[in-house]
Amino acid sequence: RRRDEGLSRDLYQLMEEANRYYQSQLRQHQDKQKVLDYLAFRGLSDQVVERFGIGFAPDGWDGLLSRYRSQQESQDKLLTAGMIISNDNGKRYDRFRDRLMFPIRDRRGRVIAFGGRVLGDGTPKYLNSPETPIFHKGNELYGLYELKQAHREPRQVLIVEGYMDVVALAQFGVDYAVASLGTSTTAEQFQLLLRSAKEVVCCYDGDNAGKEAAWRALETALPLLKPGDTVRFMFLPQGEDPDSMVRKTGKEAFEALIDEAQTLTGFLFDTLTTKYGTDKGNLAKQAIALIEKIQDTVLQNLLLEDLSHRLGMNSADDLKKKLGFKSPQGVASARHKALKGRGTPLRLAV
Ligand code: CTP
Ligand code: MN
Ligand code: MN
Ligand code: MN
Ligand code: MN
Repeated sequence: RRRDEGLSRDLYQLMEEANRYYQSQLRQHQDKQKVLDYLAFRGLSDQVVERFGIGFAPDGWDGLLSRYRSQQESQDKLLTAGMIISNDNGKRYDRFRDRLMFPIRDRRGRVIAFGGRVLGDGTPKYLNSPETPIFHKGNELYGLYELKQAHREPRQVLIVEGYMDVVALAQFGVDYAVASLGTSTTAEQFQLLLRSAKEVVCCYDGDNAGKEAAWRALETALPLLKPGDTVRFMFLPQGEDPDSMVRKTGKEAFEALIDEAQTLTGFLFDTLTTKYGTDKGNLAKQAIALIEKIQDTVLQNLLLEDLSHRLGMNSADDLKKKLGFKSPQGVASARHKALKGRGTPLRLAV
């Protein structure tokens, strides 16, 4: 145990050193101009580069490694930290070469991983740190530390797909976005988001992958929701992502889109309507199967209430009776009234 703590401490220190090295290369490497050109091409300001600690991993096999020549122990730890790779012959070399570097920080601000973007069109577009003793991808959110520096208690957090989305949004003043590091947003990440702010707005890329990610996010979030939590969904025009969008619209119009984001029930209902439009009974069953995932019974009843109105019924109780739904009672009737008349009434034929 003590040994593990010692190892972690050393890994954090090495990651911090690597981060300083990449940042210094952006200022002083002989190839730095091409990186500055790329940053200009992407429209990133010096301030935002500074704020996110963006750096440059130069081309070559041992830019980072050579700084630890004859320090065998540090080299072993760089391997553990995922910063160098050992090939079949035991030859070691830098993982990140000729890439724009995004440091990923934990909630205490410690650098725990990197994402490296190719400076142009090569593949893979992004190279990320592997899982290490100090980096578990599914538990971290890119930009959360930077967000908390700007807002101790944000009202709202935007969850986006990529590094560039977080950075571009921040540059345009939407400084409350975080990224789920390319994977679909995990339950752990949602927990973290909901602990950080009462409202989470999902804003994935305007493509099929983004739409599917939104649906998976809904399914992931449902079991975690508690009264007072809000999760909403924002859909960008085809081909746009938050980075490209905010550059087109600017801050105000982008924030107007955030304000118009769909509610969770709205998205759930619309998606199922598209899928089962002519089969209302099936639609209701599918919707209920999802709502049943909500652990909190108060919230579950609120959603059932909303659903019943969208189906053209008077209350969640009517809906439960119709479908023989077996869940604890406790419909909040004040909210019932508030929700009445909202949504598109559908005729339920079951
Ligand atoms: N991603 C990754 N590896 C890839 C491609 C994507 O890890 N080969 C992750 C990155 O975190 C990336 C996110 O998925 O930021 C979203 O991918 P994509 O939309 O393709 O990239 P963008 O963030 O839009 O990057 P850019 O604007 O630089 O093209
Ligand atoms: Mn702000
Ligand atoms: Mn994408
Ligand atoms: Mn992009
Ligand atoms: Mn994208």
